[in-house]
Amino acid sequence: MDIPSRLASIFPRPEQIPAAMRIQEPLIQREYLVNGQLEQWTGPMQDVYSPICIQTQNAAEPFFLGQCPRLDGDAALRVLDAAVRAYNNGRGVWPTMSVAERISCVENFVFRMSQKREEVVRLLMWEICKNSGDAAGEFDRTIKYIKDTIDALKELDRNSSRFVIDSGIIAQIRRAPLGTVLCMGPFNYPLNETFTTLIPALIMGNTVLFKPAKCGVLLLRPLLDAFRDSFPPGVINTLYGSGRDITPPLMRSGKVDCLAFIGSTEAADALKLQHPKPHRLRCALGMAAKNPAIVLPDADLDLSAEECSLGALSFNGQRCTGLKIIFVHQSIADEFLAKLCARISALPIGMPWEDGVKLTPLPEDGKAERMAAYVQDAVRHGAKVVNEHGGSANKTVFFPAVVYPVHEPMRLFSEEQFGPVVAVTPFTAISEPVDYIVNSRYGQQASIFGKDPEQIARLVDPLVNQVCRLNLNSQCQRGPDTFPFTGRKDSAEGTLSVSDALRVFSIRTLVAAKLNNTNKGIINGIVHDRRSKFLSDDFLI
Ligand code: G3H
Repeated sequence: MDIPSRLASIFPRPEQIPAAMRIQEPLIQREYLVNGQLEQWTGPMQDVYSPICIQTQNAAEPFFLGQCPRLDGDAALRVLDAAVRAYNNGRGVWPTMSVAERISCVENFVFRMSQKREEVVRLLMWEICKNSGDAAGEFDRTIKYIKDTIDALKELDRNSSRFVIDSGIIAQIRRAPLGTVLCMGPFNYPLNETFTTLIPALIMGNTVLFKPAKCGVLLLRPLLDAFRDSFPPGVINTLYGSGRDITPPLMRSGKVDCLAFIGSTEAADALKLQHPKPHRLRCALGMAAKNPAIVLPDADLDLSAEECSLGALSFNGQRCTGLKIIFVHQSIADEFLAKLCARISALPIGMPWEDGVKLTPLPEDGKAERMAAYVQDAVRHGAKVVNEHGGSANKTVFFPAVVYPVHEPMRLFSEEQFGPVVAVTPFTAISEPVDYIVNSRYGQQASIFGKDPEQIARLVDPLVNQVCRLNLNSQCQRGPDTFPFTGRKDSAEGTLSVSDALRVFSIRTLVAAKLNNTNKGIINGIVHDRRSKFLSDDFLI
């Protein structure tokens, strides 16, 4: 079927939805987790619609999935107080628990979580339209991340179980929690990316307030019981509602010790600025990016087109690591574009449960219109849509547009489009993409496509001081999750990976003493009789 006909009939009639995917009743979630209780919210509720429309006789209408609480500022502060009380200035049950005991709570949680796979994956598909493979992949990746985090903490703890002696001073150096952490995840990885901050924050002994992103909320409901049952009261608490209503009072209270936020740079800046004690606030931020690809004249064009198509359009281009601009050498631009457009034309478009589907409806309100506005702006400044049917749309579905040539002052040249618009820019001198990267306000990753070691080396050395990961002949990506994930400039603050995140959510702390007989006796007395959780030579296995 050609693209226009496919788009016209893209939304299913009720009977076309596979039985296993059907939502029989709207999911009305009134519960939010606070102080170890699932409290019922009696205030205003927030409607949750799927980006999937349902075809009725007359029109395709957005599917009503359910509702979740819309807390106000006062309610959010009560939730914050529960987390602050549970931390109790570092004297709470959780921050003083042994590492082994905390690990056991997280093991219990991950066991309970894995039983909810089917429910969560189905909601990931309904709420944000991740295709079935990617939705299952997000769930499984998260389970693996949690298990790897447990192993990494054991390793960290084993390394800290020894005492060190230097210059006549004996010390035990460990990592201690920071306090209360506000975790806010993004809509494109509502489970995985949120948990890549939430789990390390928890396991290091912090107490947590967890606010889901604006899309991808109901999919977390199946996990609330597991959270409640696996951790002491107040250690993990959930917040729902508009960020504009509830985050200002939280930040202004000065009681948030650490902000873990993944989203736009502007939102991150606004949150940080509201905190009255900037030096007490630790931040782990994953923000905007405009990752470029550079396709050199000798690049393998089939491979480059394949990786650029994947990099620009996996999950409809809604990845912070996505390729947001492709610089291609003028001498190969036509051939590269032909290959890229052919690949894009072959991408199956449809509902997330359809076999092999790659392009799906877009979850954010007005997203297709915003994508169209990027294209119109570029066209106004002289660019063309070079792929067949590029930019065709039907409500929440937007067929990718390849826009060429993109240059200043087009918005696509400098803004992160975060969606299915592929910006391509020709270059003749290598200094052009290099200068672009140097002058960009972002600095997460870049991809280089080429074969000549000499030419690639000449790009690697300057660019590694501009971005935090250079990908050779492959798209940009976060994984594997043991690799450091970070960015320079306005793209990130702090480094996340299985082991780095444990460091981000903790601080090096030591107990030290001059090495004399009195102090030896005290330390031996504490360690031998296991009087302290911190001063201890227990070896975790
Ligand atoms: O949205 C940003 C994600 O961290 C990207 O992760 O490269 O594994 O898709 P990914």
